[in-house]
Amino acid sequence: MQIRSFLKHLLLCFILYSIGLAQTVLVGTRVVSGESLPENTALVEKRPLSPSSSSSSPSASPAIRACNNSPSLCNRSYANITHLGAHDSPFISDETTGFSSSGNQYYNTTLQLSAGVRLLSAQLHSKTNSTTKVKEWHLCHSSCALLDAGTLSNWLSEIKTWMDSNPNEVVTLVIVNSNNASADDINTEYRTSGIIQYVYEPPLTRSTTDASKVVAPPMSSWPTLNEMIAEDRRLVTFVANMPSNPDTAPPYILDEFTYVFENPFEVTAASNFSCLPDRPSSVAGKPQEAVDSNRLFLQNHFLDVKQAFGIETPDEAEVATTNSPDTTVPATLGAAAQACKRTYGGRNPNFLLVDFFNVGPAIDTVDQLNGVTAPLGRESISALVQKEVVGSEAARAVGRSGGRGSLLALGVVLAVAAMGLV
Ligand SMILES: *[C@@H]1O[C@H](CO)[C@@H](O)[C@H](O)[C@H]1NC(C)=O
Ligand SMILES: *[C@@H]1O[C@H](CO)[C@@H](O)[C@H](O)[C@H]1NC(C)=O
Ligand SMILES: *[C@@H]1O[C@H](CO)[C@@H](O)[C@H](O)[C@H]1NC(C)=O
Ligand SMILES: *[C@@H]1O[C@H](CO)[C@@H](O)[C@H](O)[C@H]1NC(C)=O
Ligand SMILES: *[C@@H]1O[C@H](CO)[C@@H](O)[C@H](O)[C@H]1NC(C)=O
Ligand SMILES: *[C@@H]1O[C@H](CO)[C@@H](O)[C@H](O)[C@H]1NC(C)=O
Repeated sequence: MQIRSFLKHLLLCFILYSIGLAQTVLVGTRVVSGESLPENTALVEKRPLSPSSSSSSPSASPAIRACNNSPSLCNRSYANITHLGAHDSPFISDETTGFSSSGNQYYNTTLQLSAGVRLLSAQLHSKTNSTTKVKEWHLCHSSCALLDAGTLSNWLSEIKTWMDSNPNEVVTLVIVNSNNASADDINTEYRTSGIIQYVYEPPLTRSTTDASKVVAPPMSSWPTLNEMIAEDRRLVTFVANMPSNPDTAPPYILDEFTYVFENPFEVTAASNFSCLPDRPSSVAGKPQEAVDSNRLFLQNHFLDVKQAFGIETPDEAEVATTNSPDTTVPATLGAAAQACKRTYGGRNPNFLLVDFFNVGPAIDTVDQLNGVTAPLGRESISALVQKEVVGSEAARAVGRSGGRGSLLALGVVLAVAAMGLV
């Protein structure tokens, strides 16, 4: 029984791996070519902005010039600006991943942040260390056999390093909890990385009709960027699929769908982008209820291509259109943001989540929504789709192609064997 399940697992891993390989480019290199409910409907338990600091004086920070790359955003509430999000931030398609087709971004998390991304999403999976046999928490794309970007704590360390040297920047994480990590598991990774020093805790807000239920705080209760920066509470953490009661989790680990609603994701046709709420189910299809719930709006705007076995990979062929700021072309990021703004009574999306964020460039749409015309302190990177080049690498391509063919043949043999076992 155990051998059977092991073999089935092995087969699944292999299939996922083969798909990854099959999608991998033929050549070994790529070059860049290119408001809410009235306040009295919720009971807000005021938590100090900074639990570890006794005084809170936002004005005590005269050195601040720009917040999230612009002076004009410093006095705006966290909930009243649009943050650019890198979907599946740690899953990179470059040399380090053999140009994985499962990669959602061309540039790593540090470069994303330096170029203006302020929300990072990732998937959290459990993985047993083959040497120590200890369960570790890794960032993997669908499966750790497909694309493993290392441990959560390593990724958090990378983000902390960037936040250490960029003290006026407010960052948001959306962690998709794929294998039921507990709040303690996640908290341990935050402590190990040291990033715990930056976590923001919103005021704990309870439903008036059911005091055991935590709800999103009133929009007006979100601090300004200036306040978060002055207190050095600059990291907001949302986790999708928290197993435990939010009351028992550390107060900075926020159950995503208590605080956030999203439009549909896994869209595979540009004509199918929709602004309507999709998650959580309590507000699905009901924009007014979503707004009235005080939840922040995370707008997904990326296209997938359906592959065999139900696997979806990012649609690179369409991304130049998908991420374009041009509001006159259907299904662009610019047009979709305006469409959703209309759906939500003129309110800008709080977060725009995209693949290959550098293309478009997606930040242009965000700047337009925020009214930012002269951003400060951003690293400039190519806005182009990274295309494969065929040439001197062709010989290597043939070699890799041959290797892939043998692996696929092995996969068929394994599949037949596994079916015999089922
Ligand atoms: C931000 O608000 C504070 C007081 O609330 C004010 O003193 C300061 O001038 C404002 N800064 C900007 C850039 O508007
Ligand atoms: C959001 O910010 C804009 C620009 O400063 C301001 O005009 C608007 O009143 C703010 N909205 C809310 C709900 O605070
Ligand atoms: C991110 O990518 C840049 C450019 O490839 C590289 O120099 C840097 O070391 C990378 N950073 C991390 C933390 O991987
Ligand atoms: C297993 O754990 C050890 C000790 O923490 C670590 O050095 C090693 O990189 C891990 N192996 C893998 C494959 O993650
Ligand atoms: C997830 O973990 C919690 C404990 O943190 C446990 O009570 C629950 O049964 C687990 N759920 C699944 C589906 O494993
Ligand atoms: C578009 O959405 C509709 C309704 O959800 C669905 O039936 C259709 O299959 C989708 N089309 C594509 C190409 O995904």
